[in-house]
Amino acid sequence: MSGKFILIVGPMYSGKTSELISFIEIYTLGKKKIKVFKPIIDTRYASEYVVSHTGTKVEAIPIKESKEMYNYLDYDEKAVFVDEVQFFDEGLKDVINDLLKKGINVYCSGLDLTYKNNPFQTTILLSAYADEIIKKKAVCHECGEYNGTISFKLVGNGDEIDVGGFEKYIAVCRDCYEKLNAEK
Ligand code: ADP
Ligand code: TMP
Ligand code: MG
Repeated sequence: MSGKFILIVGPMYSGKTSELISFIEIYTLGKKKIKVFKPIIDTRYASEYVVSHTGTKVEAIPIKESKEMYNYLDYDEKAVFVDEVQFFDEGLKDVINDLLKKGINVYCSGLDLTYKNNPFQTTILLSAYADEIIKKKAVCHECGEYNGTISFKLVGNGDEIDVGGFEKYIAVCRDCYEKLNAEK
């Protein structure tokens, strides 16, 4: 039977990584074999762990390109997890489809939008294949409402790929995003 594919999306601080770690815990409590991957460029908290903003963490294999996953897979895993999918190449969809065909469940999480309000291509591509998309929200840093859907960059501009945390980004609602950009 085909595996199922769950995709967790949303802005920064919306609990994507925490949700991914909760799914990982379900498998580890059940002593099921899993593999966890993360992009090597995410060295924010620790390079060999998936880490949430609250500090919960799980060991992970850091890789640069999606096809490197093949070097680590045994194909008897019950599930494969990937955090920060927005940083991966579009070939990730092929690896995921191979896993699903082999009956392995796949859980991914990542940003849907850049701080410039553009879609992150790999995340959007994966959404076409997902059996379930969990869309998370953050508390808006400006108005305090639970409707934060986009990340706003506090410092600098430029590249849409720029690893960082609280020192660089906040999560806001669409109205506050427009307001902050108008004030820039
Ligand atoms: P993500 O991977 O989506 O960035 P994490 O799972 O790493 O999110 O972190 C979520 C945690 O971040 C929340 O449980 C909360 O403790 C914290 N947090 C910090 N700022 C916010 C915010 N604006 N809205 C919601 N949670 C926030
Ligand atoms: P997070 O969703 O787990 O908080 O992590 C998002 C990562 O993506 C973090 O390292 C900052 C980075 N990022 C970008 O590179 N470009 C962007 O446009 C945004 C919003 C975040
Ligand atoms: Mg995260």
